[in-house]
Amino acid sequence: MMRTKLAAPGLVLALVLAACGGGASPDVTKVREAASVEAGTALYEANCARCHGADLRGGSYSGGIAPSLSGKTGPSDALLIEIVKRGRGLGMPSFATQLEETEIASIIDYVRSVQAALIDE
Ligand code: HEC
Repeated sequence: MMRTKLAAPGLVLALVLAACGGGASPDVTKVREAASVEAGTALYEANCARCHGADLRGGSYSGGIAPSLSGKTGPSDALLIEIVKRGRGLGMPSFATQLEETEIASIIDYVRSVQAALIDE
């Protein structure tokens, strides 16, 4: 048999996105639990929206220095969770004492659901 098996559609999508320069991590299109996305939506609004914007596209707070999260498809879930836990630079606070790890994970599930919807557009 000379025919090779076609790769899984998800893998093809990831490869196409990578080839297009998007460099989206495979975590972007991973299926998320609806309950976690819902919890993450409320937590995002309460903790992140004032800086990163209600639509995730970056905020006007602090002279617009908070970056857009909707296009932040490159880093893995684990890395995004780590950034939220530790904080970053001068403007991004650490949430290690305010949020449980599972709450941060829910926020990332919500961020991913927005990113995935934008990719589908
Ligand atoms: C007080 C404003 C503020 C709040 C609140 C805030 N952020 Fe940030 N965030 C920033 C700024 C400013 C940066 C850029 C930091 C840098 O790179 O120096 C950032 C960076 C990030 C990054 C890294 C983006 C990149 O380009 O690498 C992630 C991910 C992130 N924030 C997620 C969140 C999440 C999730 C929340 C809510 C739990 C949140 N942030 C709350 C201001 C904020």
